[in-house]
Amino acid sequence: MNALSSVTLIDGKATAARVLAEVREQVGSLRDNGLQPALAVVLVGMDAASQVYVRNKVLRAEEVGIRSLEHRLAPDTTEAQLLALIERLNRDPDVNGILVQLPLPRHIDEHCVLQAIDPLKDVDGFHSQNVGGLAQGRDVLTPCTPSGCMRLLRDTCGELRGKYAVVVGRSNIVGKPMAALLLQADCTVTVVHSRSRDMQALCRQADIVVAAVGKPRLIDASWLKPGAVVIDVGINRIEENGRSRLVGDVDFDAALSQVAAITPVPGGVGPMTIAYLMKNTLLALDLQQQAAHLERTACPSPC
Ligand code: GUN
Repeated sequence: MNALSSVTLIDGKATAARVLAEVREQVGSLRDNGLQPALAVVLVGMDAASQVYVRNKVLRAEEVGIRSLEHRLAPDTTEAQLLALIERLNRDPDVNGILVQLPLPRHIDEHCVLQAIDPLKDVDGFHSQNVGGLAQGRDVLTPCTPSGCMRLLRDTCGELRGKYAVVVGRSNIVGKPMAALLLQADCTVTVVHSRSRDMQALCRQADIVVAAVGKPRLIDASWLKPGAVVIDVGINRIEENGRSRLVGDVDFDAALSQVAAITPVPGGVGPMTIAYLMKNTLLALDLQQQAAHLERTACPSPC
């Protein structure tokens, strides 16, 4: 058992500020070469949480010197209208990143929309070409939240090689890409989910637990090995003692008695997602420049 004083609180806010400072510096160098990266953010409908996320993404982009182009579309926008906008953004050489905020209204096919985004502008890393590239360990745009979690883990643990990592949750946005990134870092990886038998026992063996299920305080001390490092991706709003508050998928207070390091909610993973969106926008610009160079030099194989 750990004394509370020996537990490291993984400060996502501070790490995100460092990542954003790196991005700001790179944007400055690009400006010296006459370039300004641009990120297009598309929101369809009036979902309250999505409006907050989009506003934060746009504000953060402006803070680091990335030009942001906000497209707010009415809830009754058709799939064809949204696809036409994406096509325009794909063709615009001044747009480097395209993000379509999810979830989309039910009358729009999410897969079809994500597949329409140019993979080299897909700053979410959701296009199947990028998903496949990640699975193959190639240098592609990867989803922002898992990328942010990897940075927190590297900063906390140093070497990840050989560690046993359990990812709780198998979503396309977090669980699956997280498992792929951990595997790429030479971890041994298990993904557990709602149909897994004895998730608790599997978790209890893990050096690293990444919780991304969206179930408030599901994981308590009995799920955790002494000395485990815990990354809590969950952001769940609950009512407690007559007040509304945010809690993670991990019972933070209970876990403190067991873990070596843990992310708080809020202030852990949350700020890292936007920071990595900015980083991905710069990577997208870089990939586009590489592709343009290959085209100019008429290299016979894009691989
Ligand atoms: N909605 C919730 N998380 C995300 C995300 O990472 N990207 C997008 N585009 N929409 C989201």
